[in-house]
Amino acid sequence: MVAEDQAGLHARRRVERPSVEVFPCADPALIEAKKLHPELNVFRPPDRQHQALVGIAKDPDGCVTVAVDGDTIVGYAAFHRPDPFERWGKDETGGIYELGAVEVAPSYRGLGLAKRMLEASFATGRFDDKLVLATLYYWHYDLERSGLTPFRYRDLLIRLYGSVGFEPSTTNDPDIFAYPENALMVRVGPKTPEAVKASFEKLRFLSEEGPWANF
Ligand SMILES: CC(C)(COP(=O)(O)OP(=O)(O)OC[C@H]1O[C@@H](n2cnc3c(N)ncnc32)[C@H](O)[C@@H]1OP(=O)(O)O)[C@@H](O)C(=O)NCCC(=O)NCCS
Repeated sequence: MVAEDQAGLHARRRVERPSVEVFPCADPALIEAKKLHPELNVFRPPDRQHQALVGIAKDPDGCVTVAVDGDTIVGYAAFHRPDPFERWGKDETGGIYELGAVEVAPSYRGLGLAKRMLEASFATGRFDDKLVLATLYYWHYDLERSGLTPFRYRDLLIRLYGSVGFEPSTTNDPDIFAYPENALMVRVGPKTPEAVKASFEKLRFLSEEGPWANF
């Protein structure tokens, strides 16, 4: 009931913001030149997140799509190669990418910006021959401001990512399978090589004896 009330609130808050422009895989100079909205603080304090986004955008393997209102970044979607300490970072094909974070400033939520940024990112074709994964961890969910339960929030993200071709996937990664509120989602591109898909299949169910035991 509480969650439904919140969803209703969310729907009533929808007001068009025609001034917002989306820049897919934006030039790092553009990201550097704009301010980051002070409420973009779910993952890190805004100053640090701004620097992190510039760093990802400068990386030849990175892509940061931003939603900009005037001189302010009001949302972003960041893609990068998985960190080497993660199991997905053991991929040797170079074809596995991660949708590391999507965030929209609270006053701009519910306007379809997250969806627009994801659609624009994939429309670049940059991920057509990649496999992109998204790890949904409940400790990243903005439960307080959304008013949603972890399960409803997970379902919201599954719908959002599903709208651009991600599908839920199973794994024995303890951070995912030990918490039903979490999920792993995967988007296979139209030209993703079989070797990349096979690499992902291997990594999905690594043995608990150690990350290299299955290789
Ligand atoms: C998740 C998040 C990125 C969504 O951004 P957004 O711009 O508000 O999302 P959109 O407007 O594109 O909406 C996407 C869908 O989610 C739904 N939705 C978004 N917020 C909602 C809420 N609080 N309650 C109910 N539904 C919600 C929308 O109705 C829409 O569904 P539809 O296409 O079926 O209508 C934003 O809430 C956010 O920044 N959260 C904090 C960070 C986070 O959780 N990131 C994801 C994990 S990395």
